[in-house]
Amino acid sequence: MGCNDSLIAGGLADSKNFYVTTSDKPNRRQVDKAKRLAEELSAPYLDKRRSILANRESHHDFYYVVERNRVLIRRQSDIFFFHPSSAKMRMRNWNHGQNEYLLDAFQLSGGERILDLTLGLGSDAILMGGFLREGQVIGLESSLHIYTIVRYGLQDYVDPADWINESMKRITPIHADYKTYLRTTPDKSFDLVYCDPMFDHPVMRSSGLNPIRPFANHEGVSEEDIEEMRRVSRGRVVFKTLIRDRLLGQIPVNRVYGSKSSGILYGVIL
Ligand SMILES: C[S@@+](CC[C@H](N)C(=O)[O-])C[C@H]1O[C@@H](n2cnc3c(N)ncnc32)[C@H](O)[C@@H]1O
Repeated sequence: MGCNDSLIAGGLADSKNFYVTTSDKPNRRQVDKAKRLAEELSAPYLDKRRSILANRESHHDFYYVVERNRVLIRRQSDIFFFHPSSAKMRMRNWNHGQNEYLLDAFQLSGGERILDLTLGLGSDAILMGGFLREGQVIGLESSLHIYTIVRYGLQDYVDPADWINESMKRITPIHADYKTYLRTTPDKSFDLVYCDPMFDHPVMRSSGLNPIRPFANHEGVSEEDIEEMRRVSRGRVVFKTLIRDRLLGQIPVNRVYGSKSSGILYGVIL
């Protein structure tokens, strides 16, 4: 199972060919933060002048930029940064009476401890966090670069909507491969386990996930992984996929939620 499309595969997931810099005219805090990040990632720190020279020579795959209020990655003309826009839009639609199938699939009561195996940009995690009064979301991400951008995003981003800020506090991002994490986690440790792997046939045109594609882990879900998810969950295991992908045909789900118009399905193992 899974996807191996060479056009979308995460060729940069393990790249060490990058550096860290700041935006123009950085303050002391930015410079310190950029140096700390470089050390954490075992990458060189280049000040702005050296960064401009390095870009002219273009030997690097990409570089991190520590701005005043956020950390982002620049790669050629692309920019990858954290923003909870999709969670916001989905909550707004739900408040206006539209269906949100993730909520139908999850059936949250508000105190759950959720394991999100595939954190990505954190949009699903933020939406679920918005419906937790006391619960918690543990979000795993195996790509170091996606994890780094989202971890800083969850920490630094401040939204005008309080529910987003409250929800982000409930999410604990962990840099880990779920395949390993699951196998070292005791039975029934979580109320719900959620898995949203990279799609086999993504909708490239409109996907909010396009910025993460080159950095993402595109490995598929195995039958043993599904057994591990069931073992670790006290309750449901929920999978997200596209109608035209193969995943749901290979998983013994009890219920499916979604619509033809969105093309997205949530399969639930009860
Ligand atoms: C489709 S995206 C998830 C999007 C996420 N649900 C959101 O709302 O932003 C899948 C993410 O899971 C990550 N991933 C894939 N396999 C993984 C694994 N074995 N362990 C941890 N993360 C993984 C990918 O790198 C990617 O960031």
